[in-house]
Amino acid sequence: DKGNHRHFMEKEIYEQPEVISHALGHYVDFGSTKVRDLPGSIDFAAIDRLAISACGTAYLAGLVSKYWFERLARLPVEIDVASEFRYREMPLSKNGAALFISQSGETADTLASLRYCKQEGLKIGAVVNVKESTIARESDAVFPILAGPEIGVASTKAFTCQLTALAALAIGAARQRGTMSEADEIAAVKHLIEMPRIMSAVLNSIQPQVETLARELSKCKDVLYLGRGTSYPLAMEGALKLKEISYIHAEGYAAGELKHGPIALIDEEMPVIVIAPHDRFFEKTVSNMQEVAARGGRIVFITDAKGAAASTLETMATIVLPEVDEIISPMIYSLPVQLIAYHTAVIMGTDVDQPRNLAKSVTVE
Ligand code: F6R
Repeated sequence: DKGNHRHFMEKEIYEQPEVISHALGHYVDFGSTKVRDLPGSIDFAAIDRLAISACGTAYLAGLVSKYWFERLARLPVEIDVASEFRYREMPLSKNGAALFISQSGETADTLASLRYCKQEGLKIGAVVNVKESTIARESDAVFPILAGPEIGVASTKAFTCQLTALAALAIGAARQRGTMSEADEIAAVKHLIEMPRIMSAVLNSIQPQVETLARELSKCKDVLYLGRGTSYPLAMEGALKLKEISYIHAEGYAAGELKHGPIALIDEEMPVIVIAPHDRFFEKTVSNMQEVAARGGRIVFITDAKGAAASTLETMATIVLPEVDEIISPMIYSLPVQLIAYHTAVIMGTDVDQPRNLAKSVTVE
């Protein structure tokens, strides 16, 4: 049932504040504002390495979490798309653990990666939406994302719920490893708890602007997304979402890679969508944005009020989001990224919930 929405994808985008509240209820204690100790979880203090494997959007959630596990918990993360991971025969640390992220829990390549790690004797964790799935059944520790059924082929609420579970896991890992103070844990968890309210406010405010922008984007053949830090995986997620449902060619790049190749593509025809909250990477990303402007590129700037005030560059659109802590910016910035893809696809008239050639669950290689 789509409720008042035209597509399941739209419904699932707007459901995010609610399902994230559910997910948070599982991972954090609202009273103490700390992460919960999950029985049977991975002992992050006992491992020296974490391997993560997943496909598509789930892989990009994993890539965001690499930044968190490494920075907050000082835990080195090896991450790869499952179709590569499973065949690389990589040396795995005997003291390591492996994490598999999958909405369906049935993705063939992710399952094969899991079985490889299991055979190598690693402790296996699974971040899944479908708790009865094969990947969940074959894991030692199951971390549900509690997103509820996701019908739209393009993943939206599963992505932000994966991020929510992974953020809590990374904070928990940091506590176990003694790399985060109690005060910092409490502060981080408070930010997570604020997330649903901020998401509702964003969802209630940006749609008209995104629709106007989508009309422009629907005329384009190519779109480039740029980001730095955790906004880099988000740039890739933006490009993935746009191409899979609108069929417009899009690429997501690390902002710093611009001058190593893609800058040659910049002209008035190809919009460049820059994801840049006013965080510790902001100045660097803005200098990349200046390089785009200097070559006549048209910019869509997704930032916050501080970021918008700090740049005088002319843009096609500036989408201003609330100023949020770094730990929740990937979830908050997912919203414009999802809505841009959604509205562009609606204007193009594609089958948003059932894009051509795609299946919700990829159970063959
Ligand atoms: C993109 C998308 C896919 C899936 C990928 C993995 O919107 O939905 O890229 O993320 O096929 O699927 P799961 O998470 O079921 O393993």
